[in-house]
Amino acid sequence: MSNEDRVVLALGGAGTVGSGVVKALLDRGFKVAVISRDNSKLEKLKGFVSPNTKSNLTTLVGNVGSVEGVEEVKQALLKSVGKITDVVSSLGFSWWQGGPPHTQPLKELQWVIETLLFSTFVSWKAFFPLVRDDPNCTYTFITGGAGEKVLMPGTGFLTVGAASALAFCQVLREEYPEVPCKLNQVCLLCAVKVSSNSPEHEKFMGL
Ligand SMILES: NC(=O)c1ccc[n+]([C@@H]2O[C@H](COP(=O)([O-])OP(=O)(O)OC[C@H]3O[C@@H](n4cnc5c(N)ncnc54)[C@H](OP(=O)(O)O)[C@@H]3O)[C@@H](O)[C@H]2O)c1
Repeated sequence: MSNEDRVVLALGGAGTVGSGVVKALLDRGFKVAVISRDNSKLEKLKGFVSPNTKSNLTTLVGNVGSVEGVEEVKQALLKSVGKITDVVSSLGFSWWQGGPPHTQPLKELQWVIETLLFSTFVSWKAFFPLVRDDPNCTYTFITGGAGEKVLMPGTGFLTVGAASALAFCQVLREEYPEVPCKLNQVCLLCAVKVSSNSPEHEKFMGL
């Protein structure tokens, strides 16, 4: 299947990692759909991609981390683009350095797990069936080194959240070894830089 025939759903496509993925895919001829909870991020993304590829970008406002929200936006997506051949999931957040666990409320840990793990699971459950049975299709998770390698005072919940997302991807690969579509995990062992990176993130990454 040529790139021009493929329609990629980029989950987290308006984020730091996702926007780079979206731009690169559009530049290579793919059609790309992006869902974000925040319309202003989608507008920013439209200004970031190469102008001559903008007509291949579809944007939708929706929450892929809620069971009701994901079903609603899935219907709107299919109505708009017809089919999906590939999914790239880079949901989560860039950095967390809120302090040691004894200073944190349960609500903070819930937010971390919701953003990194629950959104990844809920969206996978909704979108995987669209690509699962086709050997020409793919589902790719972007993970980072934070779950295994990044640990310094104050970053504990980042490690907990990233490790849970990483473990979820590993579980899926073990649970579905024979699935026709290609189930990929890309682990970025580097920092992805944008101008809005926090100073702590940049210092830690040596940027
Ligand atoms: N940045 C790095 O240096 C780096 C390095 C290695 C790996 N990673 C990994 O890459 C992933 C993304 O990081 P990032 O830096 O791109 O973070 P980011 O800039 O905060 O982007 C994450 C995106 O996830 C989306 N998201 C989260 N929960 C959602 C939900 N319930 N519904 C819809 N969208 C939701 C957000 O969408 P909205 O537009 O709706 O807010 C946001 O655009 C993380 O798993 C991280 O571990 C990042």
